[in-house]
Amino acid sequence: MKTGVVIVGGGPAGLLLGQRLHIEGVENVLLESQSREHVLKRVRAGVLEWGSVEVLRDSDVGSRMDNEGHVHDGADIVWRGEYRLTIDTKKYADRPMMAYGQTNITEDLYAARDAMGGVVVDDVDDVTLHGIDTSEPWVGYTKNGDRHRIDCEFVAGCDGFHGVCRRTIPQSKRQEFVKEYPFGWLGILSETPPLPDLIYANSERGFALCSMRNPMLSRYYIQCDLDTNLDEWPDDRFWEELKLRYPKYIADAIVTGPSIEKSIAPLRSFVSEPMSYGRLFLAGDAAHIVPPTGAKGLNLAISDVFYLSRALVAHLKQGDERYLSSYSDMALRRVWGAARFSWWLTGLLHRFPQQVPFDLRAQEQELSYLASSEVAMKSLCEQYAGLPFEDLT
Ligand code: APR
Ligand code: PHB
Repeated sequence: MKTGVVIVGGGPAGLLLGQRLHIEGVENVLLESQSREHVLKRVRAGVLEWGSVEVLRDSDVGSRMDNEGHVHDGADIVWRGEYRLTIDTKKYADRPMMAYGQTNITEDLYAARDAMGGVVVDDVDDVTLHGIDTSEPWVGYTKNGDRHRIDCEFVAGCDGFHGVCRRTIPQSKRQEFVKEYPFGWLGILSETPPLPDLIYANSERGFALCSMRNPMLSRYYIQCDLDTNLDEWPDDRFWEELKLRYPKYIADAIVTGPSIEKSIAPLRSFVSEPMSYGRLFLAGDAAHIVPPTGAKGLNLAISDVFYLSRALVAHLKQGDERYLSSYSDMALRRVWGAARFSWWLTGLLHRFPQQVPFDLRAQEQELSYLASSEVAMKSLCEQYAGLPFEDLT
């Protein structure tokens, strides 16, 4: 078999890249190691920057998002059980945010791919990349016990943090930047009406977040220790702990109910440079992970794909090399912007095991400063709303 681009990984990055290439008439095949059912039932992020909303609309997958997504003006932070500030992105960065679940985006992208007759080979094993430093790369994979080969012009590595693509780049040619945090988030999904606002809490019991997916689906998180055992967190204990981290008037407004999903995610920052090698281009979690604070993971996957689809189309349709050769540098500038921001927001809102009273006072001071300084708030809003996409200068 031969195609233009082999996309490895059918998460949001791979599916969106396939969709954008299809619209531009670039042939592609998508390989996914899991079943479609598995991919569609993963519960992940849910807050879109406006730039991401526009990319999804431009990719012809915006209609359900525009009908069902919840447009809001940012988020709030509460601390010391009494103070509250609003990250008003509409006011200070001139663009709102959109609450719309990654699970829905993935559904929309699969539906669009089916409608276009796009090829998705799921349940594949042993994906291997060959000749990526030549002009004739190919990808091998096993399906139902049979081995297959696809020749292509480019390989897009959209196979997430645990994928094979990044590791195909020789170790001597890449550099990895890693930061692990000494805690995780215990998250639940419940079919209850969310609070009208997304509210982060910095409390003496640890970080908490009230978020939303739709009018009858709420997402809540609490900071937890890394060795937390889910079995020790029945719903009642979760709700009680969540409410203890908010001022009473907010806790009283939280509508509780049975959880339909409960999981723990450790927090990590990770960036691998460069994001390309020969004919291989990485996008999304395959190249970087951010801690969830600030909800940048999905938005970065979308901006990588915006840059990469533009670059591949410019090369394949117009013979213009410039975007492809600047892809890694351009994508990494935005990645580091979000990596730094997520690291900073994580530091601002969590309790760290080694924190001394001085650190706590400094954290409170930073929150007070944000609440009282328009300059500081503008900077926060600009980053929370998402940095602009670049073009060649
Ligand atoms: N071969 C084929 N597919 C693979 C392989 C492999 N060797 N390894 C992993 N995959 C698949 C995974 O099963 C998954 O469906 O690649 C996909 C990667 O998807 P994600 O992990 O969702 O990563 P990405 O598409 O970059 O999405 C960005 O943003 O909200 C954050 O982390 C969250 O998933 C989110 C991400
Ligand atoms: C979420 O709804 O999952 C979410 C929202 C905001 C964040 C992180 C996660 O900062």
